[in-house]
Amino acid sequence: MSGFGAPHLHLRSIDSTNERARELAEAGAPSGTIVTAEEQTAGRGRVGRGWSAPPGKALLFSAILGPLEPRHALLPLAVPVAVCEAIESVAEHECRIKWPNDVWIDERKAAGVLIEARPPNWAVIGIGVNVAIAPDEFPADVRWPAASIGPEVELAELREALCGALSEWVQATDTTVLEGYRGRDALADRPISWEGSGGGEGVGAGIDERGNLLVERADGELVSLGSGEVALRLAQP
Ligand code: BTN
Repeated sequence: MSGFGAPHLHLRSIDSTNERARELAEAGAPSGTIVTAEEQTAGRGRVGRGWSAPPGKALLFSAILGPLEPRHALLPLAVPVAVCEAIESVAEHECRIKWPNDVWIDERKAAGVLIEARPPNWAVIGIGVNVAIAPDEFPADVRWPAASIGPEVELAELREALCGALSEWVQATDTTVLEGYRGRDALADRPISWEGSGGGEGVGAGIDERGNLLVERADGELVSLGSGEVALRLAQP
C-alpha cells in the first residue's frame, strides 16, 4: 500500500466512523481509505465500552488496512506508537502508552485505539484523540483520567500527521515495533493489579514478543496477560 489518507470520507455526524469504515471495507474500499467525522452518536471503545466527544473537539478517525498479512501481527502495538509520534509532531507533549494501546500525556488518557478486523481481508484502525475537550466536558464515568492535547492543534494537521505516522508504522518490522512500544511503556516498573485471568498484583515488567503484558509478582514469578482477558488497575505515582 502507498499510505493512509485517500480516499477520505469526512462526515458531519455518524454513529461510528469504525462502523462506516467496516461497511466500506466489506464493500471493497481500498487499503488506505480513511473515515473521519465531526461527531459520533454511537462511538465505540474497547471491550464493549462507548467513546464520546463533543462535536469538533476530537479527532475521530478510522482507517482501512488490507489485506492482513503475518507481518501485521503487532498492529495493536504499532498503532499507539504511531499515534504518539503524530501527537508529538503537532503539540508539545511527550506521549506514553498504557498497555495495551491507550495513549497518555501526563498520566492522563489523550487517545484510544480500537482495531476491528476480519482477517485476512481487512482491519479497521479506529483512533480517537482528545484535542480541545475541556476538563469538565469529559464524561463523569471515564475509566482513566482524561486529557486533551490542546485547542491550538488543528484537526486537519493532526489527521495528516497521523496518516503519515500510520503509513510508516504499519510497515515496520516486529523488532522496530517492539522497540518503539517498549520505549513508551507507561506501565514499566509500576505497581499493577488486575482482575480476570485469576487476578493478582505485581510490577509491570514490559511486554513479550507477542505484545502480552508481563507482570512480576512479589514471589518473582513472571505472569503474561493478554489484552482481552484482564482489567488493570495501577497505583498512582
Ligand atoms: C478506547 O480507548 O476504548 C478506544 C476508543 C476508540 C475511539 C475511536 S473514535 C473513532 C473510531 N470510531 C469509533 O467508534 N471508535 C474509534
